[in-house]
Amino acid sequence: MADKRLLVTGAGGMLGQALVACLESRGHVVIAMPREKLDVTNYEQVVNQLNQHTPDLILHCAAYTKVDQAESEPDLAFFINGYGTENLAVACNHLNIPLLYVSSDYVFDGEKNRPYTTWDETKPLSIYGKTKLAGERAVMRHLRRFYIVRTSWLYGPNGKNFVETILTMANEGKPLRVVADQFGSPTCTLSLSESIADLIDTERFGVYHASDDGVTNWYEFAKEIVWDLKAQVSPIQTVDMPRPATRPKYSVMDKTTLINTIGRELPTWQDSLHAYLQLRKTKTLA
Ligand SMILES: NC(=O)c1ccc[n+]([C@@H]2O[C@H](COP(=O)([O-])OP(=O)(O)OC[C@H]3O[C@@H](n4cnc5c(N)ncnc54)[C@H](OP(=O)(O)O)[C@@H]3O)[C@@H](O)[C@H]2O)c1
Repeated sequence: MADKRLLVTGAGGMLGQALVACLESRGHVVIAMPREKLDVTNYEQVVNQLNQHTPDLILHCAAYTKVDQAESEPDLAFFINGYGTENLAVACNHLNIPLLYVSSDYVFDGEKNRPYTTWDETKPLSIYGKTKLAGERAVMRHLRRFYIVRTSWLYGPNGKNFVETILTMANEGKPLRVVADQFGSPTCTLSLSESIADLIDTERFGVYHASDDGVTNWYEFAKEIVWDLKAQVSPIQTVDMPRPATRPKYSVMDKTTLINTIGRELPTWQDSLHAYLQLRKTKTLA
């Protein structure tokens, strides 16, 4: 079902860029809105852009994403992820446009130790997680036609991310000490974009969990990233490397709803990672 008019916020970001390319490749008309063209905290600008472009759906990838820094600037993080999302939701409500909001596994506290379902209680531990949940609530408060897509541990082309950090450190011969007691599902922006593109074709609105398949910890993930570089990776515990924001110990999500809705399995995190590493070798990725 191509030929939708799709407006993507945060189109200059890591996921935004991957999603724009994926949606265009499927034949949609994509209105890519980087921050310079659409600041979601500016309600007047939001309304003007929606009126001008009359999209069939908005895919909201813009966000404040600095998880640790958010602890020291909560007002800014809430302003962008809370109010910014609410601005879009209110405008979408007035103009009767559905909205897809990208959210995070960090809305959970990680104490369940089994995959979180879409109906499990949210309980964010960090300011960032709280701001993403504020965005979810704004979407649900104002709209009937919405998708909330929670994802996790993103990496991909054109972004600062864990895979690129580990590769850079390994290539510089720096010691790699990585936490082994936080579990989750690494997810490539390229495979997530395919899932989102499939989901919007269904027009079955609701809350979804979307990550690559499987479970690992950051240490095992790092080892897989450098598997052919002969780099040594040492496991450490979270207490050995304190950071401003508390992360959930186990933020794996149950993706059954998404799989049944789009009618296909999701790739494993290992397959997605190796496809990405291969792509990096054949193209120069930033
Ligand atoms: N990265 C992850 O591991 C992860 C995990 C789970 C969920 N998510 C969610 O996935 C989505 C995409 O994340 P990402 O990794 O692609 O992050 P990203 O690369 O940081 O992209 C976010 C984009 O939003 C822009 N932005 C910030 N404030 C804005 C504003 N007021 N108005 C418009 N645009 C604004 C940023 O621009 P500037 O660069 O100029 O600030 C950036 O281009 C976000 O909703 C994030 O919360 C990410």
